[in-house]
This record gives sequence, structure tokens and C-alpha cells, in this order.
Amino acid sequence: MWSSSVKTGEQLSISGISAKDLAKEFGTPAFFIDESDFRSRALDWNAALSKAFESNAGTVYYAAKAFICTEVARWIKDCGIGIDVCTGGELAVALAAGIDPAKIELHGNNKSVSEIQGAVDAGVGIIVLDSLYEIERVAAAAQKNGTTQKVLLRITPGIDTHTHQSIATAHEDVKFGFSIASGAAWAAIKEVRNHSSLELRGFHAHIGSQVFGYETFQLAAERLINLLAKYRDEFKSELPELDLGGGYAIAYLPGDKTVVPSQALQALATAVKKNCEANKLAIPKISIEPGRSIVGPSMFTLYEVGTVKDVTLEDGLHRNYISIDGGMSDNIRPSLYGAKYTTVLANRTSTAPNISSRLVGKHCETGDILIREIDLPSDIVPGDLLAVPATGAYGRSLANNYNHVPRPPVIAIKDGKARVIVRRETEADLLGLDI
Ligand code: LLP
Repeated sequence: MWSSSVKTGEQLSISGISAKDLAKEFGTPAFFIDESDFRSRALDWNAALSKAFESNAGTVYYAAKAFICTEVARWIKDCGIGIDVCTGGELAVALAAGIDPAKIELHGNNKSVSEIQGAVDAGVGIIVLDSLYEIERVAAAAQKNGTTQKVLLRITPGIDTHTHQSIATAHEDVKFGFSIASGAAWAAIKEVRNHSSLELRGFHAHIGSQVFGYETFQLAAERLINLLAKYRDEFKSELPELDLGGGYAIAYLPGDKTVVPSQALQALATAVKKNCEANKLAIPKISIEPGRSIVGPSMFTLYEVGTVKDVTLEDGLHRNYISIDGGMSDNIRPSLYGAKYTTVLANRTSTAPNISSRLVGKHCETGDILIREIDLPSDIVPGDLLAVPATGAYGRSLANNYNHVPRPPVIAIKDGKARVIVRRETEADLLGLDI
């Protein structure tokens, strides 16, 4: 839940810097990212992939959509892993950070022609194809440059992943990929083979996000390996790569479980080996794309309390509404997916009894609720600081300007030092867009 340098005791601190000092220097709301924690999670996934698959380990592609900025992309580069980007914007950040294009993988269900050309021009290592139109477009872009583009086909393995329906991606009724069951995947394979400017390296599947347990990952691997076998039987050659996506779950609340990289990838390796043996296939290179499980726990958000209101409910009970200076503009996950978070008083300790509270934002929406129900000290007052852990993934990256609220900064903490890596947006930034 909290990153490794955070201490939640008397007063919350990270790498020895108190929340109070951070708020004073950088203002609130703000995201704080624990650099060492981020790097060690990235390295853990990399080590786990190497250990589980040995010479068949492919690449760990960090899923940039979870959170990216140029400095974090530099950390990715330092860690020696790859990056998964899904727009021209994310690609631009990866390139600006100096990531080797060969370690960039381009995703997206509707990449524009110019995004495709930009990626081919940059020399990205892999493009994951998601529609028949895209096969033509990528082939044309590579042909124009006189190059051959390595590609994977995104496959829909037809699996009901147990997670929120908005973040499950492997069942049939989705916009992503080519379905095995309907025959779309086979048609796409044949189409790719018609283009000499495309080199089909293998298949990709991403089953969903915030997924606990290993069975659905194993099932996806099995279905993709069966497809590799069908390919070998038909075309008398074996495809060398599988990318099995991201989606590994993290803890958001006290007591939540978290996926351990070494265990998850060992389970995956067992399934891959078993299914390759059953099909008499050489084990392909296996790549993965964790996003949330690298950046999620590395960041927390710090808010300042602005108002506290005791609301009498119809049944005579009371609810304590605590309003903070951010909300659905910096964390839309509770409103969008019913995501649950916790919070702690960060600037002091309190011995006051806990009361049932609701943590709400400053936006003009009843649904601007960060935490629907939580027991918090009854003496919380304006000016107190509240810290919300595990906001690194899909927090700042989904941030928006609802009510013209400028987006918060991101501050990196390492070895007792704090530095801004994404500055706070200003009203001038917002007005600057208006003609
Ligand atoms: N690879 C592909 C192709 C993906 O679509 C995703 C996430 C990932 C990797 C990384 O998944 P992760 O390891 O981060 O779970 N906004 C939602 C999550 C959307 C996930 C989109 N794709 C949320 O806040 O829960």
C-alpha cells in the first residue's frame, strides 16, 4: 500500500521528510513518488521474468498509461527495461527520455496513420496490431520507409476476467484485439502474412487490470500457445514471441493482497512450459507489461482539508463530510470504477475517537467522493493534511481539469531529497489554451 520509504507514525514522512514540510514546500494537492521504490519494483519484475523464463525471458515493458513523464521514463531507461506506449504522446515522452526505440512497443486500438508513421520512423521495436485496417496502415508505413516492421497480433482469448467490467479486456464483446473463437484472429494472421514489410513475431493478450490470482493469466497463455501450434501446423514455422500483458493487482486497503512478481511469473512459466510441451513447441520469448504493479504503490497523494461538515441523515444518524482540496480531477477512479482507497491523518497524531466520515473533493458533483465510508478522528479540522496511498497508477495519468482545477504536480523523493518532476499546472496554463 505505502511505498518503502514512507513511515506512518506520529506524522507521515517519506525518506525522512515530513508531510508537513512537503505541503509547505510544494503545496497541496500533490503526488509524491518514491523513486527507489519505483525502481526496485521495475527491477523486481525484470528479475522475476529472467528467473521464471531464463533464456526465454523476453522484455518487461512498463505500461506508460499507468503514469509517465520524462523523468520516470529516464528511470525506465536506467532500469534497462522496455516501455509500452499507446499514443503518439506517450511515444514522444519515451523518445524525449532517450529510451532506445528498439525497447518501445506501440499499442492502441485506433492508432492514427500519423502515430503509426511516427512510430515506424522512430524505429520502435514492436507494433501490436489491433485491426485489419491497421495491418494495411503499418505495412504501408514500413514500405514507405523501405523497412520491415516487427509486429504482434493482439488476440482476444475469450476469458471472463474477474475485475471491474471497465478494465476487463479479454472477453469477446470488447473493442480490443482479434478473437480466436470467431475466427478473426486466424483471418488477421493470414492478412499479415500477405505483407512483406511486416514480420509477424507472435501474439499478444492483455486480460484486464487489477487481477488477483494466476489462473486467468495461465488460461490466456494456454489459448495463445494453442494458436501458436495451429500456426506451426499450417505454415510449418514457429513464431518466436508471446506478450502476455499486464494487469497484476496491488493493495489499496489495509489487508488487501498484492501480487508478488516472482510467484506470478513462476505460475505463468509453469503454464507456458506445460502447454508448449503438450503442443511440441519450442518455448517462445515471453514478455509482460506491468503498469500498476510498478508505479501504483510508489506514489501517494497529499491533500489539505478545507471544510468539515456534520450532516444529519434522514434516519437521524450523522455523517462527517471532510472536503479536501482535490477530488475527482486528480483521482477519478472511485467515481469511474467504484475503486476504494484509504487515508491517514498526515500532519499530527490524534487521540480523538474515530467517527464515520466521508472524504469528498471540491468539485460540483455529488459523486465527487474519494472515500465513501471511513473511520477518521473526530477532531480533523481545516488545515489538517490527509495522505492517500497507492495513487500512482491511473491517478495523475487520468487527471483532468474539471471545474478548471489545475492538475497537481508530481514530486520525486529520493535519499531525503524532494524535487519536482512534473510542475503544478496553473490557471495561466489553462487560459493559455483559450483563443
Ligand atoms: N498492457 C495493455 C495492453 C493494457 O491495456 C494495460 C492497461 C496494461 C498493459 C497495464 O495494465 P496494469 O498492469 O497497469 O494493470 N484506468 C484503469 C486501468 C486501465 C488499464 C488499461 N490498460 C484503472 O484505473 O484501473
